[in-house]
Amino acid sequence: MRSVKSHYGGVYISGGSYKTSLSSKTELGLNPNFNGMTIKGNGRVVFGDNFHSGEGCLILTSNHNYNGNALPYDETNIDKDVIIGNNVWFGDRVIVMGGVKIGDGCIIQAGAVVVKDIPDLGIAGGNPAQVFKYRDKEHYYSLLEKGLFH
Ligand SMILES: CC(C)(COP(=O)(O)OP(=O)(O)OC[C@H]1O[C@@H](n2cnc3c(N)ncnc32)[C@H](O)[C@@H]1OP(=O)(O)O)[C@@H](O)C(=O)NCCC(=O)NCCS
Repeated sequence: MRSVKSHYGGVYISGGSYKTSLSSKTELGLNPNFNGMTIKGNGRVVFGDNFHSGEGCLILTSNHNYNGNALPYDETNIDKDVIIGNNVWFGDRVIVMGGVKIGDGCIIQAGAVVVKDIPDLGIAGGNPAQVFKYRDKEHYYSLLEKGLFH
């Protein structure tokens, strides 16, 4: 694992007018590919290997405390980590909320808002994101064994 403060070659960042802005609490696996990713908040965000994402994605790891001593919220934050497995693909405009774990091989549909954990190989979409099918296990593990990564 590498933190963004210490990453070296092999990080792909593109996305035209979409900026990529990773927090200092982001940890990258091997071969990360960003096309416009904003990570906000103080929670950790851990990416597994071979992460790919479309344009305009957002990961939000902090909430203002709306149960504190001021309205609409007080000066404290509630931080929650996001853990993303290996070989995960986000379509365009995916939003992930803090506290969520996205398993190996998951695909998150364009426009999805992920608020709960997504199990390994799950293909999930909508708001709130639900798994509507799974990757083919044999196909996935056969590519994994052969080390075939985009
Ligand atoms: C996630 C994704 C890859 C799934 O694509 P897919 O495998 O072709 O899936 P389909 O659209 O064929 O949908 C499969 C089935 O699930 C259903 N489905 C699709 N999205 C759904 C959702 N959010 N909730 C419930 N059901 C859904 C479809 O209606 C379809 O049902 P059917 O088999 O009865 O017809 C695709 O939707 C996606 O978001 N791709 C990313 C595109 C993108 O952002 N590209 C640019 C950046 S990389």
